Amino acid sequence: MPFNLVSAWNKRRRSKSHDHTDPWIYKPVEYWQLDDQAPQPPKRHHHGSSIFTLKEMEEATCSFSEENLLGKGGFGRVYRGTLQSGEVVAIKKMELPPFKAAEGEREFRVEVDILSRLDHPNLVSLIGYCADGKQRFLVYEYMQKGNLQDHLNGIGEGKMDWPQRLKVALGAARGLAYLHSSSDVGIPIVHRDFKSTNILLSADFEAKVSDFGLAKMMPEGQETYVTARVLGTFGYFDPEYTSTGKLTLQSDVYAFGVVLLELLTGRQAVDINLGPNDQNLVVQVRHILNDRKKLRKVIDSELGRSSYTMESIAMFANLASRCVRRESSERPSMAECVKELQLIIYTNAKGLGAAMAPNKAMF
Ligand SMILES: Nc1ncnc2c1ncn2[C@@H]1O[C@H](COP(=O)(O)OP(=O)(O)OP(=O)(O)O)[C@@H](O)[C@H]1O
Ligand SMILES: [Mg+2]
Repeated sequence: MPFNLVSAWNKRRRSKSHDHTDPWIYKPVEYWQLDDQAPQPPKRHHHGSSIFTLKEMEEATCSFSEENLLGKGGFGRVYRGTLQSGEVVAIKKMELPPFKAAEGEREFRVEVDILSRLDHPNLVSLIGYCADGKQRFLVYEYMQKGNLQDHLNGIGEGKMDWPQRLKVALGAARGLAYLHSSSDVGIPIVHRDFKSTNILLSADFEAKVSDFGLAKMMPEGQETYVTARVLGTFGYFDPEYTSTGKLTLQSDVYAFGVVLLELLTGRQAVDINLGPNDQNLVVQVRHILNDRKKLRKVIDSELGRSSYTMESIAMFANLASRCVRRESSERPSMAECVKELQLIIYTNAKGLGAAMAPNKAMF
């Protein structure tokens, strides 16, 4: 194609770069960009992952400085980083046992490629990875407000009111339902490690699920790692797993139910400060979830009374009780949870609206 024609088209493209409706623009542009000398925006958040070098990871985090440390989990430390493009990200530096590091590179790439193809507003985007020698890093979208558990424990700014908690529950449910639906990668994905520290919040408190599929990358049955992990996730563990040895989509539903209970009660899934019979939140409250009178006693005392209706609390507790049933076949699907939470949000808003009405009329 003559050069002039290409550059004329490029000019036309630049002048109309915001015009997505012109059918002329879309396809040819993909082709002509090859000739274009202008720097290409990196393809991120869609269609596969970016690959980073170790040097890029070091530069992004000031050589993993303490100031950039966001937290530590079962897979390693997480740092805040700034990429060369200026994009702020969270970088997970994975601590792998030596044998896994040596053999796992191909497996790691395949796994990350699959996970980075997932794209949903309620999933934390996996932007890319670095596999350099024995080191492995995962690069995620940065979530400004940190994890849900910190907010429920009051480490964040103030406690969340009931509508905010319902919104978080719905967002997390949508994220999980999307993973389970197999939409973009052809197979349903079991999260395997769903819990309140793996629900991250954006600047405007939109909930996004993180660390999906990650547990699969870790070796099973390795004493040192397993001990650390099981302790951390104990309260979320599907009781049926002990008999079948398999984590299923319904195991995620169980863990989701535990998070619903945390949102309702403000208590932790496991509280090691309590006596042996009270440590596990599910065991503690399971029997009273469908008893309205007793239910009142376990509602988080820091929830503003004017932010909830008992009707919505009862519906929410009932949903939670079904999610944590021992028999996995009796638990609802995540798609059903999404529908019910929508109804609960509607019921609460309507109930509060009705309660407000007389007040408004009085003034
Ligand atoms: N994408 C992110 N944006 C902002 N902060 C993050 C991000 N990912 C993780 N963090 C922070 O880093 C902390 C540690 O995360 P990490 O995932 O390693 O541990 P965890 O969630 O407690 O346990 P697990 O290893 O089972 O996921 C989180 O609790 C969260 O506050
Ligand atoms: Mg996590």
